[in-house]
Amino acid sequence: MATTVVIGTQWGDEGKGKIVDLLTGYADVIVRFQGGNNAGHTLVVDGKKFIFHLIPSGILYGNKLCVIGNGVVLDPAVLLEEMDDLAANGMTISPELLKISLNTHLIMPYHKAMDHAREAAKSEGKKIGTTGRGIGPCYEDKIVRNGIKIADLLDPELFRDKLEENLKYKNFLFKELFNTDTISVDEVYGQYQEYAEKLAPFATNVSVIIDDARKADKNILFEGAQGTQLDIDHGTYPFVTSSNTIAGGACCGSGIGPSKIDCTLGICKAYTTRVGEGPFPTELFDETGDQLQKQGVEFGATTGRKRRCGWLDGVVLQEAVRLNGLDGLVVTKLDVMSGISNLKICTSYDVNGRTFKCMPSNIRQTQAAKPVYMDIDGWDEDITGAKSIDDLPVKARNYLKAMEEIAGIPISVVSVGPGREQTMLINNPFEKG
Ligand code: GDP
Ligand code: IMO
Ligand code: MG
Repeated sequence: MATTVVIGTQWGDEGKGKIVDLLTGYADVIVRFQGGNNAGHTLVVDGKKFIFHLIPSGILYGNKLCVIGNGVVLDPAVLLEEMDDLAANGMTISPELLKISLNTHLIMPYHKAMDHAREAAKSEGKKIGTTGRGIGPCYEDKIVRNGIKIADLLDPELFRDKLEENLKYKNFLFKELFNTDTISVDEVYGQYQEYAEKLAPFATNVSVIIDDARKADKNILFEGAQGTQLDIDHGTYPFVTSSNTIAGGACCGSGIGPSKIDCTLGICKAYTTRVGEGPFPTELFDETGDQLQKQGVEFGATTGRKRRCGWLDGVVLQEAVRLNGLDGLVVTKLDVMSGISNLKICTSYDVNGRTFKCMPSNIRQTQAAKPVYMDIDGWDEDITGAKSIDDLPVKARNYLKAMEEIAGIPISVVSVGPGREQTMLINNPFEKG
């Protein structure tokens, strides 16, 4: 029995979906514990591409228990659409296969409208570039204790009461502050009662289910969304998402105690990307940046936006090792670096003449951070067919060694392509004995 948490070490899109899908082969239960359908996790299985936003990436195996924890914010329309898409591919998702916490908060139409209205009202330079999925406003309601949980949805009287109260306040803002359309209680009530009927069979106490699985010696895999630098507390605030994306979030977001987590793996792209606004010290605005974007096919899996690209950032990597207590590193997209002769890795920042070895807390300092680089030789060979570390050119192995040295932890997995089979599993967290 083992429990493993998979976390993004950068600004999201590190390849978590692919790695979770791979490790699912050894797991019994896969748990999403934070974020919502702002996430876009891509899996390529037998050449066919799937993108999951809410359902854990383990679902494709068809015989693994998938769990959505209380820390997730859930848009019922998106979940049901994802289930319909899977059904169209011949996979009916039964309540035996998917469990959703009764404590999961619901994304409501007014959360999405608020997300859009707020972003539109912000001036250039202040926009966050959210995914527009209502994530921030939903977490905000949870924290101010106005949120609507699935348990509330399943109690029509309680649901209507909460909905009315929320819309009284939100409609005032839409009308008076944002000058946008108001939202009808009756329409939302009717729509969400339909969702209630469909979701009810899946809703349960997820903490108990995870605990039972643990006691029954099952392997449990926690699938992080977003990345460490998007964490609400530890990321590049305010250019972050609204949840705790770091490993500690797995405990709060699913109801498992910290002493019951055995292993935390950090997924790290061999370079860096960011989608949306916010500081990105190693961002490249030159041909190499374009090359990474094109070779890496760096487009957002949720919004389709072009991802910003840059060199690997060792400061970001070390932050991730510390904040998540990482045991092992998973390096993805090493293949994308092929053909770039002079590579660089950032080892510290110069902020107005001061050296920073960790991320500044003041956003203006982060915005002013100039990366200090080490140089490292690149390689030309196509490595997408490599099956073991020994198949890699020496220069690619040197690059991995540099990553290990900076991180101070061993590499557990190396990925050289989007397919399940394009992966070298060096140290499997579920086969530690
Ligand atoms: P996630 O949000 O962390 O799950 O990552 P995304 O799915 O948003 O983005 C990662 C993208 O990289 C997807 O298109 C994956 O199919 C792709 N990918 C994952 N690992 C590799 C790899 O090692 N090499 C290449 N070329 N693509 C990869
Ligand atoms: P996965 O799980 C990359 C970014 C958005 C924006 C900021 C806040 O696929 O790695 P939000 O809608 O969450 O309020 O937006 O966070 N963002 C992501 N960037 N990958 C993600 O998820 C992201 N989820 C949110 O672009 O900058
Ligand atoms: Mg993604």
